[in-house]
Amino acid sequence: MATLLVTGGAGFIGSCYVLARRAAGDRVINLDKLTYSGNMGNLLSLKGDADHIFVRGDIGNAELVRHLLETYAPDAVLHFAAESHVDRSILDPGAFVRTNVLGTCALLHSVYGWWKDLAEERRQTFRFLHVSTDEVFGALRPDDDAFSEETAYAPNSPYSASKAASDHFVRAYHETYGFPTLITNCSNNYGPRQFPEKLIPLVTLNALARKPLPVYGTGSNIRDWLHVEDHCTALQLVLEAGRVGQTYAIGGRSERTNLEVVRTVCAALDEMAPSREGPYAELVRFVTDRPGHDFRYAIDCSKLCRELGWQPAHTFEEGLRETVRWYLDNREWVENVQSGDYRKWLDVNYAGRVQRVSA
Ligand code: NAD
Ligand code: DAU
Repeated sequence: MATLLVTGGAGFIGSCYVLARRAAGDRVINLDKLTYSGNMGNLLSLKGDADHIFVRGDIGNAELVRHLLETYAPDAVLHFAAESHVDRSILDPGAFVRTNVLGTCALLHSVYGWWKDLAEERRQTFRFLHVSTDEVFGALRPDDDAFSEETAYAPNSPYSASKAASDHFVRAYHETYGFPTLITNCSNNYGPRQFPEKLIPLVTLNALARKPLPVYGTGSNIRDWLHVEDHCTALQLVLEAGRVGQTYAIGGRSERTNLEVVRTVCAALDEMAPSREGPYAELVRFVTDRPGHDFRYAIDCSKLCRELGWQPAHTFEEGLRETVRWYLDNREWVENVQSGDYRKWLDVNYAGRVQRVSA
């Protein structure tokens, strides 16, 4: 049984990882600030579980982090905590600098300070895994090769710039101090428990409420989609067998245009929750584009597959149907996250965008 300090373990991906590790028998210390996207409802099945220790707090709180390290002596830190939504970063970059850059730097320094005084054997086996994104590589054109570990960084949004900065600091701690880091850069995740500011849950829930389905620009931007559980199995392989100081690109080899994704969600809903008011795709509206909208992301994950034997278990179409089913079956979770703050965000992000029926 390993002891893992997980940051951001009440969020979408972090909670999936925490649930998987508890099912596998690891002890988890879960440090999460519970921002708008952190949700204890994601961890309901762990209620009363003595080997899931939840601590509400900020990764930038050095005293708290030091206390957790000294008390629980983790075998690894998995760093998920972040501000994660591109549109929010366009409206308030400062929050992204504070958590993603300064928070990551503070966390790194706290963990490094504790690690350097461990016994040699523990220093050798300890790992700090930094969960990052493919957005740090910028945007691809239609015929460009997919991003890989060799791709130069070219972040375009405040979010991706803040994640790029955090990646550089993690790398620097390895190069400078020999701190045993791993970095992963993953493509777009989807699956249960994703906060409905992101495309797939937003469109699913808007459709069920017969609200417009906002597609930025012409809907031709491309993302490479990966089921969140496949991301988490990749992270575990990297943690267990990844080479220290290396980065691993993770992706689903499932490139789709946004319009294709939205239409696939609508088709699944037409089948699972048909509406008397007509097919859900009639609700699609093309709205003012995201500023600096990256055209295409795609990941070449051959290093991960070759070195660590990873393969995704979900196809996009089957995984998306299961995800839509999850949102239909978990209305209480949905109602809890659609709070006043969430409605305020919808107004802030969508009210001013021009809407058109065709692209
Ligand atoms: P999320 O927004 O759902 O969850 C983020 C979690 O971090 C929340 O629980 C929040 O409360 C917590 N948090 C935020 N600031 C904190 C702070 N200062 N201290 C402690 N906790 C804090 O995000 P997600 O989609 O689960 O993403 C998790 C990580 O994976 C992020 O680092 C993100 O950059 C990365 N990532 C996400 C995707 C994706 O498609 N969602 C893809 C690749 C990489
Ligand atoms: O690539 C990995 C990244 O994927 C992660 O690092 C981010 O944390 C995660 O949020 C995600 O970023 P995107 O910006 O790609 O995800 P989002 O769901 O916000 O948007 C997906 C695509 O859909 C993108 O091209 C913008 C578009 N979109 C999004 C929203 C919210 C719309 O057309 N309409 C919308 O209302």
